[in-house]
Amino acid sequence: MSTVRRRLRGAAKAAAVTGAVGVAGIGYASVIERNWFRLRRYEIPLLPPGSPRLRLLHLADAHLTPGRRLLLDWIRGLDSYEPDLVVNTGDSLAHERAVEPFIDALGPLLDRPGVFVHGSNDLFSPQFKNPARYLWRNSHEDYDKRKSPDLPWRELSAAMTESGWLDLNNHAERFKAGGVDVAAAGIHDSHIKLDRYSRVAGPADPGADLRLGVMHSPEPTNLDRFVADGYQLLLAGHTHGGQLCLPFFGTLVTNCGIDRRRARGLHRYGSAWLHVSAGLGTSPTAPVRFCCRPEASLLDLVACEG
Ligand SMILES: [Fe+2]
Repeated sequence: MSTVRRRLRGAAKAAAVTGAVGVAGIGYASVIERNWFRLRRYEIPLLPPGSPRLRLLHLADAHLTPGRRLLLDWIRGLDSYEPDLVVNTGDSLAHERAVEPFIDALGPLLDRPGVFVHGSNDLFSPQFKNPARYLWRNSHEDYDKRKSPDLPWRELSAAMTESGWLDLNNHAERFKAGGVDVAAAGIHDSHIKLDRYSRVAGPADPGADLRLGVMHSPEPTNLDRFVADGYQLLLAGHTHGGQLCLPFFGTLVTNCGIDRRRARGLHRYGSAWLHVSAGLGTSPTAPVRFCCRPEASLLDLVACEG
């Protein structure tokens, strides 16, 4: 065999191996890891001494489209953990027919105390774009030219509020959950400039057992405002934890102002605790996850030692 033919055959083999690895990787990220849900659990000591434990379930970024049966079944099973409070930080929808199956999957969770805010994807349907573009471009630029929401966010809000959940989009509420007195404030999505912190601004009541700040996107400007007003626990989603992560490096991009290190999980943010959920779903235009499994989180809030 001539040298040229040997080299051509070697190059063809290398290309075939590279292609097979690429196909396997995409298959893993889009079929296996995207449906490999996990429940993260944390215990956070921030309630006044003597308070009962408050179990909080944090849901985020379901991005629901028709046919996500595995995702819906997994959400349906979360009620078995018996949370005292459910917090949905938005991006529940990604399709005009997603409200009914999402509400159906929440099921008995809607009978528990709950609060919610919306994300951009509850208002605007996904538009196809190069899936790799998120590596170099913040997606808020995609919304600047789109004026009118085209997804049924009003129906989503109505279904949750009719069940008793509280709408915290630029709104504050005081309520009891699991025997704990909660002062909660939330804002709409800063990613599409619908956040109006001024409507909830002011010191949170220090007499409340828990001062809770809720938002879709963990934008530092707003996190700083919540901390300055005395909120102790800040919950957000939006980042998807990066969605495509690298082993030993982690999150590549956060799609907002939060740093990569705090793009998912529980961290300190000034005097507060910040929990950012990596979320349950993916954008339909980039239906892959790698080193960043879809998740919900169970936060057990317990009393500080006296
Ligand atoms: Fe999202």
